Amino acid sequence: MRFFTLLPLLSFFLSSSLRAGASPSSSDLNTPSNFNSKRASAHLSRRHGDGSLSSPHTGLSAFSRRATAKISTYSGPLKGQATWYGNDGSGGACSLPGRSSDLKFAAFSGAKWDNSANCGACVRVTGPNGVIDVQIIDECPECAAGSLDLSTSAFSKIAPISRGVVPITWEFISCVSAGLEKGSVSVVWKSGSSAYWMAIQVRGAAFPVQSIAIRAATSATYTNLKREDYNYFSATSGMGNGPFVVLVRYQNGSKTIIKNVKLNSIVEDD
Ligand SMILES: *[C@@H]1O[C@H](CO)[C@@H](O)[C@H](O)[C@H]1NC(C)=O
Repeated sequence: MRFFTLLPLLSFFLSSSLRAGASPSSSDLNTPSNFNSKRASAHLSRRHGDGSLSSPHTGLSAFSRRATAKISTYSGPLKGQATWYGNDGSGGACSLPGRSSDLKFAAFSGAKWDNSANCGACVRVTGPNGVIDVQIIDECPECAAGSLDLSTSAFSKIAPISRGVVPITWEFISCVSAGLEKGSVSVVWKSGSSAYWMAIQVRGAAFPVQSIAIRAATSATYTNLKREDYNYFSATSGMGNGPFVVLVRYQNGSKTIIKNVKLNSIVEDD
């Protein structure tokens, strides 16, 4: 009897996969391997060299344009297609903690991955039936520039899941205004960091990070860290034992200096 009650469910998934056409992301609700491949492929080389932000607000007056702060250095289309995928929000190619609790997340186009530049950014996505605010925590290698792979839950807010693929427009927004981050930043160390190799990530900001430099508290000279495509910034020969001063530059042009950061004070938990 159980078998027969499952049949409608099965055919629903099959038909939604068919409707989704070539989209590889819509049919993987039950295949975590697709998610794993995203993580793995995030470590392959990606395209670089995105220029500066193209304003999404081209229709506004000069006054409004001045008042609109730049958020991201992304230069690509702010429209495309949304698909959905079965990541449960427990992780992603951005090496962030994930969003299992609210499922408000999306995977960013691999064509515009830009070395994980938009990881942690928040975007407001408008679809046929509604609007949803999500955070970028993952990569969608197959998504064209401007397209987003949404959590199943997020997709359901802008269109029926059964549609599989829908047109969207989107814009960058403040994660704090959207209630997706608190705005108090923390420096997180990649596990394995030591005096001889280190990588850090800054979490919790309203807007995405541009670059990170670090110096020993006793030194006057900052060392620029190298952005890795898994959304950490590294020094492959290490920076000593610290404590450190961390200089964070955001893509909106602001910077923050975080003092007295101790080696491995917070270590990633995945
Ligand atoms: C830029 O982003 C940072 C980090 O989220 C934020 O603290 C700062 O207020 C922003 N600056 C502007 C001008 O929006």
